[in-house]
This record gives sequence, structure tokens and C-alpha cells, in this order.
Amino acid sequence: MSKLWGGRFSQPTDRFVESFTASIQYDARLYPQDIAASVVHCRMLARQGIIADAEAEAIVAGLEQVRQELEAGTLPFQESLEDIHMHVESRLRVLIGPVAGKLHTARSRNDQVATDLRLYLREQVDCMRQEVCEMQRGLLVLAEAHVETLMPGLTHWQNAQPVSFAHHLLAYLEMLERDWQRLGDVRGRINQLPLGSAALAGTPFPVDRLWVAEMLGFEGICRNSMDAVSDRDFVIELASVCALMMVHFSRFAEELVLWSSPLLGFVELPDGFCTGSSIMPQKKNPDVPELVRGRSGRVVGHLCGLLTLMKGLPLTYNRDMQEDKEPIFDSVDTVRGCLRVLTDLIPGIVVRGEVMLKAAEVGYTTATDLADYLVRKGLPFREAHEVSGRLVRICIERGCTLAQLPLEEMQRLDGRIEADVERVLTLQASVNSRRSMGGTAFETVRQALLEARGRLQRSGM
Ligand code: ARG
Repeated sequence: MSKLWGGRFSQPTDRFVESFTASIQYDARLYPQDIAASVVHCRMLARQGIIADAEAEAIVAGLEQVRQELEAGTLPFQESLEDIHMHVESRLRVLIGPVAGKLHTARSRNDQVATDLRLYLREQVDCMRQEVCEMQRGLLVLAEAHVETLMPGLTHWQNAQPVSFAHHLLAYLEMLERDWQRLGDVRGRINQLPLGSAALAGTPFPVDRLWVAEMLGFEGICRNSMDAVSDRDFVIELASVCALMMVHFSRFAEELVLWSSPLLGFVELPDGFCTGSSIMPQKKNPDVPELVRGRSGRVVGHLCGLLTLMKGLPLTYNRDMQEDKEPIFDSVDTVRGCLRVLTDLIPGIVVRGEVMLKAAEVGYTTATDLADYLVRKGLPFREAHEVSGRLVRICIERGCTLAQLPLEEMQRLDGRIEADVERVLTLQASVNSRRSMGGTAFETVRQALLEARGRLQRSGM
């Protein structure tokens, strides 16, 4: 197949160089966007009198057939044709003859690839936002069933204060909410049209970029032609949103691994999401959360790779930029795979409330409540902290809980402790006392659940 740019060359391209420079293996997925943008570009050329209406009709019909062939998988790829843009155009030429060559008027692959990539990522962002809402909905359903399920809240992975399990789950809902917002923010910057910038300097033809932008659903056009063909900020921003999403998924996955271990036994994961061991018959391994956690590594790596890719590039387009595709495609694919697998897994989580409750009773998790009690009796918090700490030490020596310590024993340390202390030492009382906005009291959590439901509904996704 002769090259679409072969005119000034007298020697053929080296065979290995053809395969070294080809991107068709991974940019083939851009064909729907490539064709959609070409159709609109072609119609604009006709509207502006740059090509004849009949020519435009022939090109559009030909593009439609190329689309069908690509969809059916009957158009063979060849490395000598480099990328998806060349495949579409050279097939068009086979189908409709030399008039196909008019499609590339007032356009270059530089503004073409930037347009295709923006269209593709815009669609991916829309899917991801929808999928984030679905995962949030799953977490919400689980949380709604566990407002009164108590678990040990941890800091430093040490028992700290009892919390509602729903409250813990709602923390992940918040992370996902920010991810959803960030995806919306980056969408606006993805959704600007580069086409019409041509190679780098603009075009002498009287193109109508605003019309093209409107037809393709772009919110605006890239203002500067040199920036338009060399900007990959939108790729890096999206890679960064993906990396942060993976960090969130990874933290959740880590908790699932810990919670489902027989060492804790807080939850049981659905069989369909676990595997056994080839040697130890008793094993049920949390492979899905482990792989979610593991996959975060490469998405974080892609962000770093993309930043490094762009940092030394002079304006404008450089072939290096072809290397933006594999990392961003893999970032998006990985995030979407994790969203799907976690959303499918969540409804199958069996919660062992009685095990969580037992664990919440360990570790003197109401010691802060005892100190707060003394504060209400007039002690400065620092002194109250000291008294409560000493009582914990006595409990450790005796092997009992704070609630089991005889009242006289407590009074020996501080006379202000009275019989009503027993009301603050239970886990329930501790949790329900934390009614500050954003706190873990059952009523506060119920309110937070209602608000989260409302937000999800209002998002319309
Ligand atoms: N495959 C190329 C890429 O992804 C398309 C743009 C090629 N432009 C060029 N001047 N060689 O970057």
C-alpha cells in the first residue's frame, strides 16, 4: 500500500521501522470518533464551499461503509498504515476513489488525533461517572442496613472509638463523590475542539470551527492553534483522576482483605469473588480485592509516565505524543474494570455484626467517653485524660473492661465519678453521644444517608 505521505520520499520505509512506529494495535479503538469527526469536518467543508456537495456526499457515504467494515471486523489492519486515521482514509480511497483525498483539506493528523482522543475520553468520562454512581448506590444500600452495627473505629490500626459500620461505609461514599466531581471538572476541559488548527498554525481555508464544535457536542474551541495540537493536559488530568480513584479503591480493597481474614472475621466475601488454594484446602482468598489493590500501582505509574512524556516537548506536535494512548487507555480500562467488579461484589458482602461488636468491646474504646464525662463534672480535659488513662491501666492489670470496673475502684481515683458513669461507658452510648455534624451517632448517620440518597438522585445518573 503506498503511503499517504509518500511524495517526497524515494526509499521505502524500513520494515522494522514500520512496526516500531505503528500505533494501530492500540489506537484502532478510536475509529468511531475518527469517523464521526471526519463526517462533520466533511460536511463543514461543503457548507463553506471548500468542496462540492456531491463530493461531500460521496465521502460521507464512503465513511459510513468504512465504519460498518470496522464494526464487523472485516477491515484488516496493517502496520504499514501506521494508525487508525490512515486506515480509515486509505480504505475510503479504495471505496470511493481519488475524491477521498479531499477529506483531508484544512486538516492535519495533529488536530485530528487530538479531536478523536478528546471525543473518546469524553465518552469514557461519562461512562465512569455513571458507574461511580452505581458503586455509590451499592455502598448506600449496604450502609442503610448497618446504621446500628457497631465496629471498632481505628487510628494507627489500633482500636480507637466505636463507630457505626454505616458511618465507615459513608466515608467511601464521600471519596467517590469527589471522584465524580473531579470527573465532571476534567470533562469541561476535555470537551474543547482542536480541529481546524490543522498542523499547528491554522488553515487558509474558510473553515467554520464553531459549527464543527456544535455538531460534535464540544463546549467550545481550543483558542490557540499551537496549543490545540500540543496540549495533552486533559490526558494528564484524567490520568490523575484515575490514579486517585484507584487509591480510593485500593484502600477499600485493603479493608476488605483485612475484614475478611479469619483473624478479624468482620465480613464474608461472596464465593464467586474469591479463590481457593491448590495446597491448603481450608483457604478462601480475597483475590478480587487484592487485584484491585494491586492494579492501583500501574495507574499511578501511568500518571507519572504521562507527566514525564510531556515535560520536555517543544511546541507543537511531536511524535512522542503518540505514547499518550496506551497509558490513558489502560488507566480508564483499569478504573472501569475495578468499578464494575467492586459494584458487583458489594451486594454479596455478608456482615458479621456480632464479631464487629465483640471487637469494638476490646481495647477500652470508651476511655475518651470517660474523660469527657469527667470534663462535664468540671475537670479540665488534660486532667480527665490522665484519670481515664490510669483507670485503663488498672483494667489492663486486672484483665477487665472499663464497664466492668467496680464503681468504688473508680471513685478511689476520682471522687467525682458517680453511678451515672455506667451510662457513658457502653458502646451504644459512646456512638450516640457523637451527634456533632458529620459524627457517628445513629441519628446523624441516618440523616447523612438521606442526604446521600438525595444527592445521588439529583445527579440524575
Ligand atoms: N498516530 C499519531 C499519534 O497518535 C497521529 C498523529 C500523527 N501526526 C504526525 N504528524 N505524524 O500521535
